[in-house]
Amino acid sequence: MTDTPLLQMTGIVKQFPGVRALDGVDLDVRAGEVHCLLGQNGAGKSTLIKVLSGFHQPDEGTITWDGQDAAFSTPAKAIEHGVATIYQELDLVPHLDVTENVFLGHEVSRAGFSQRSRAREMARALLARLGHAEIPVTRVVGDLSPANQQIVSMARALSHDTRLLVLDEPSAVLDQQEVANLFRVIRSLTAEGVAVVYISHRLEEIRQIGDRITVLKDGRTVATGLAVADTPTAELIRLMTGRSIEYVFPPRPETPRDQGEPVLEVRDLSLAGVFTGVDLTVHAGEIVGLAGLVGAGRSEILETLYGARRASTGTVAVDGKRLRRGSVTSSVQAGVGLAPEERKSQGLLLDEAVYRNITMSSMARFARFGFLDRGQERKRAEELTTSLDVRPTGVTRAVRTLSGGNQQKVVLARWLLRDCRVLLLDEPTRGVDVGARSEIYQLVRSLADRGVAVVVVSSEIEEVLGLADRVLVVREGEVVHESASTDIDEAKVLDLVMEERVPA
Ligand SMILES: Nc1ncnc2c1ncn2[C@@H]1O[C@H](COP(=O)(O)OP(=O)(O)OP(=O)(O)O)[C@@H](O)[C@H]1O
Ligand SMILES: [Mg+2]
Repeated sequence: MTDTPLLQMTGIVKQFPGVRALDGVDLDVRAGEVHCLLGQNGAGKSTLIKVLSGFHQPDEGTITWDGQDAAFSTPAKAIEHGVATIYQELDLVPHLDVTENVFLGHEVSRAGFSQRSRAREMARALLARLGHAEIPVTRVVGDLSPANQQIVSMARALSHDTRLLVLDEPSAVLDQQEVANLFRVIRSLTAEGVAVVYISHRLEEIRQIGDRITVLKDGRTVATGLAVADTPTAELIRLMTGRSIEYVFPPRPETPRDQGEPVLEVRDLSLAGVFTGVDLTVHAGEIVGLAGLVGAGRSEILETLYGARRASTGTVAVDGKRLRRGSVTSSVQAGVGLAPEERKSQGLLLDEAVYRNITMSSMARFARFGFLDRGQERKRAEELTTSLDVRPTGVTRAVRTLSGGNQQKVVLARWLLRDCRVLLLDEPTRGVDVGARSEIYQLVRSLADRGVAVVVVSSEIEEVLGLADRVLVVREGEVVHESASTDIDEAKVLDLVMEERVPA
């Protein structure tokens, strides 16, 4: 690591209509270091890296790259200079295949047959370097999991001569094993002198991978160039939020809820090629967690319960009534709600107001004699956004203008508002900062206390164990363990999810 900065950003200002997203930010990054960018949802992290990558133009401030004045006027210019960016919202072209996405914009993408097969070979080599040789280079990208799509984005970044790799919350779509893999790739890049800017809300990751830290708060730099090793986590939280936060889970009910009336009963549920023989009972007031690796089948289990996928065998019943297989209508009528993991494609109407996005699934509640009670509609939305600390405030703002973490809170608010009997939550705190997590846990617990049966999937084992009453561990489409969450710890869950299958 050298001390002369590769990149120096000074006094960066970026104004959006009504919001000063960046209000004089400084950042310097050295070759070979991992520089972590921290800050609460809406602090300005993504905006800053979009200024860096030529996606946004700054209103004020200077950028020096390798000793030269350089504000990149377009993303292509930034890439030319060796700045590769993996955005928070993946920007792949879903209907093109893996190779085409990796070489998008390169000449090879428009080449003839022989060059195309060469491109495929190069794509294969890049994926192998990332530890993902198994991703088929001819597969259409839209068919890949979010985790694998991110790998493809990384391959694209590495297809150029990269001197600075910018990663905006890459771990939000990854499980522990994939994060470890990503860190391995990052370390080999920094060893070659590549600089990395890393954004994450998971502070333990910063400890593992980061060299120095810059903290943003409300569009300003509150600390820059802190050495990770010398900065305690409590200090980081204080810098980000301006207060100290106890990272707490709400207390569990004193009497276990698994004795009462079962609300959700799942028997021998299978989805061909994905998961088999899932048995699951969730009682009123109970929170059940599904732990496991990405790709173990957890999200697919939720989607099947919701009727979005058609089970190949087995039954799902809510309050004793059997649901029709593969019918969302039947599930929704029975009171099943699903807050999906991918907020952009499955969840949000980006150009609609925040309150509309929250109330859209509960319209019946706001209808009075055939008219919509808009006052009431907004009031409920306001209550929820206040308790989830959605920023900036104001429920008439278009969802598109919110930061990633705040969009996630809007998706969640929608499902918290709906009267569900069964609420299925897939990665409910993905991309949400430390300040707002406790509030989300609290809201989920209070829903359970009102008698809702909750199933939650999370890649953060600590979250599953802290929030749920009971935990099921899923490995390769099978439930391999079930117990009270207090009867198992993080290490044991990791052992269970990692365990190699003994060949029969
Ligand atoms: N295109 C836009 N139009 C209007 N406002 C925007 C736009 N993009 C971002 N903002 C606002 O700028 C501020 C900073 O947003 P940014 O996305 O940079 O936050 P972030 O630190 O990346 O947060 P998160 O952790 O939630 O991803 C927020 O108040 C956001 O609402
Ligand atoms: Mg962001």
